[in-house]
Formats: sequence, C-alpha cells, structure tokens
Amino acid sequence: MSSRAHIIVFGNEKGGSGKTTAAMHVAVALARAGKKVAAIDLDLRQRSLSRQLQNRAGWRERGGKDMAMPHIRAFERSSATSLDVAAIEEANAFSDLLEQILTEFEFIVVDTPGSDTQLSRAAHAAADTLVTPLNDSFVDFDLLASVDPVNFSVDKPSVYSDFVWECRKKRLLARRPALDWVVMRNRIGATEARNKRRVSAALDALARRIGFRVSPGFGERVIYRELFPMGLTMLDLPQPQLGISLTMSHVAARQEVRALVAMLMLPGLGEPSAVQRAG
Ligand SMILES: Nc1ncnc2c1ncn2[C@@H]1O[C@H](COP(=O)(O)OP(=O)(O)OP(=O)(O)O)[C@@H](O)[C@H]1O
Ligand SMILES: [Mg+2]
Repeated sequence: MSSRAHIIVFGNEKGGSGKTTAAMHVAVALARAGKKVAAIDLDLRQRSLSRQLQNRAGWRERGGKDMAMPHIRAFERSSATSLDVAAIEEANAFSDLLEQILTEFEFIVVDTPGSDTQLSRAAHAAADTLVTPLNDSFVDFDLLASVDPVNFSVDKPSVYSDFVWECRKKRLLARRPALDWVVMRNRIGATEARNKRRVSAALDALARRIGFRVSPGFGERVIYRELFPMGLTMLDLPQPQLGISLTMSHVAARQEVRALVAMLMLPGLGEPSAVQRAG
C-alpha cells in the first residue's frame, strides 16, 4: 500500500472525558470494516488503550480468533532524566514512528493523555481528524469556551480551542488539508434534560463560531466500563463465552458507536450506511 494513512487523534486536556473509550471503539470499528489500523497510546502513564488492546489479544487467544484486531504500535517513555529533554525526545520519537508506519496502515488511531504535554501537542499537530470527547457538563465545556452565567451563551473560546486553532493555522501554512475537528458528547444522562439542552445549545453556537462538528456521542452506560478486562467493544457483542445477554441498552450503545464512526466521514469507507453495516 503506498497511500498515506489517515490519522485520527483523540484529544482533550480534560482528564476522564472518554478519549480512550472512544479511541478503542473507533479503532475496533475500523478494523472490523476490514481496514488496516494502527493504534498508538501516548498516555505513557496510564496506558489504558494499550492495556485494552492487550486484553483483546488475550481474549482472541482464548477463542475469539475471528475478532478484528487493531495493531498496537508500542511507544516508550524517554529515559532522559531532564523532563525538558525527555519531552523533546518523545515528541521526536512520535514523529519518527508516524513516518515509519504512515504507508503501512490505512488508519492510525492515537490516544493522548488528559493533560497538555509536548507529546499531546505533537499528536494534535499530526491529526487529520481530531475527536474531542466531552462529558456533558459545563465543567468540561469550560476548556472549549467560557459561557455567560445568566443566559449560557458562549462568551469566548478558551485554552483548548485556542490550541486547536493554532494547529489549524500551522496546517494551512504547511499547505496540508484542513483539520476536521469533531466534538463528541459523552456520558449523556437519561435524566438531566435541562443541562443536556443547555450544553447542546452552547456546543452548537461554539461549533458555528470556531468550526467543529458536533457528534451525538455516547450515553452514560455501564457496559462501556465493563468490557475493559476482555478488550471487547460493543461491536463485538454478543460473545457466547461471555454470558452477557444483549439488552436494549447494548443495542443502543452499538448504534451510538456506529453513528460516531459514520459521522467522522473517514476516507475509504464509502457511504455511511456501509460503515454502519460493517461496524
Ligand atoms: N459513555 C460512558 N458511559 C459510562 N462510562 C464511561 C463512558 N465513557 C467513559 N466511561 C468511563 O469513564 C472513565 C474515563 O473514560 P476514559 O478512560 O475513556 O477517559 P479518558 O479521557 O481517556 O481519561 P484520561 O484523561 O484519564 O485518559 C472510564 O472508567 C470509562 O470506562
Ligand atoms: Mg485515556
């Protein structure tokens, strides 16, 4: 294969927003659609994406041989004692790794840590598609923009949006295609109607102002947490050995994952309906 991989980065400086969960589901969905997918875990402390994929490899050994598998591309922490030197070495090592695998894969899925690091910045700069999961709350929204305390209208973009704006400018200067930024709502509650409406209105207003697309996202569902030890996703269910029967909530969750992948409008996946069937 000689064409260049499409790089999908999951990023948000806010910890616990759903980056790893979404990255895992998208990577598996693409592998299930027959795509060659590499997964790079830049969260060198938690390594949740690597661990989930290792769990998945283990589950495959135990009888799930047909399960589609994204390829983990290991990324090691720098051994430099100076934090500054380590940060630069890691950012350079990431660029080298991308260079090595860019023509080997169709998609490269990159999970980033929930903090502003050199490595996370390097990943954002390399992204063709940036997916930003956001817990359905104004606490998380605050990293994108501040809102008026009375009417909840968008006041002004804040740190993370400014940073993505810088990445976009650099891409334009380098004459690379525009970055597609998708903000994905996560852990949407079934009950908090007023909060949901307000976050939704603020996101739509900000999307128009700074240019991202809003994905309907994932609901708050226990199953997103339960599958970690097996490295499974919603798309792999039902698994006969697992003893989890498929509920309405699981079916809805699967639909959420398919809708996210379709919404990303990734190259080479054809019509969204084809993705939804493959997912
Ligand atoms: N839609 C959801 N419903 C229920 N639990 C969820 C959902 N999304 C994520 N979680 C859980 O919330 C926690 C944080 O999610 P996740 O690890 O994906 O976030 P993250 O952004 O990668 O966090 P970090 O910044 O620490 O890397 C995990 O325990 C995960 O299983
Ligand atoms: Mg994570």
